[in-house]
Amino acid sequence: MDIRKLINEEKPPMKLLLLADPSQKMIEGYLENGSCFVAEVDNEIIGVYVLLPTRPETVEIVNIAVAEEHQKRGYGSRLINDAIQRAKQDGYKTIEIGTGNSSISQLALYQKCGFRITGIDPDFFVKHYSFEIYENGIQCRDMIRLSYDLL
Ligand code: COA
Repeated sequence: MDIRKLINEEKPPMKLLLLADPSQKMIEGYLENGSCFVAEVDNEIIGVYVLLPTRPETVEIVNIAVAEEHQKRGYGSRLINDAIQRAKQDGYKTIEIGTGNSSISQLALYQKCGFRITGIDPDFFVKHYSFEIYENGIQCRDMIRLSYDLL
């Protein structure tokens, strides 16, 4: 698997990005100021993540996705570790990621990759999305914030 930064004239893989975030409007918003990285296997894009600088010395993985047929083979962890390495090289001190209270396996994965829970943004998904989201039989209401110290 090769991971590379998408160049300006290339179209971001919207179908993959929508797997992680059901709002195309939100995705288009953070793509304006973020950097999009794609993972390729046999010249096919099978994964994506977006890094967005949010505060001084802090960058956030605002979207990460692996194509359904390629999930659970370790690509997701490799994308997260790639994001950590790039953030470190670019001189950031902290990398963050957020996920819904209902995203149980994502919460497990991020903690396995070394992220620690730092806070909860209550009702984030209720306030920012015009539709209800359910996963694992749980309504996705709150954003769980996680952070990784790069120093
Ligand atoms: N065989 C069996 N299981 C394996 C494996 C293998 N060879 N390699 C890894 N796994 C397991 C991991 O242990 C991990 O287990 P866990 O869910 O219990 O933590 C699980 O597979 C996923 O790890 P990995 O394969 O590295 O991630 P992935 O490629 O499946 O990608 C996501 C993870 C979240 C990016 C992917 O599921 C996805 O795109 N989901 C939809 C979009 C989304 O929810 N994005 C995040 C929004 S916050």
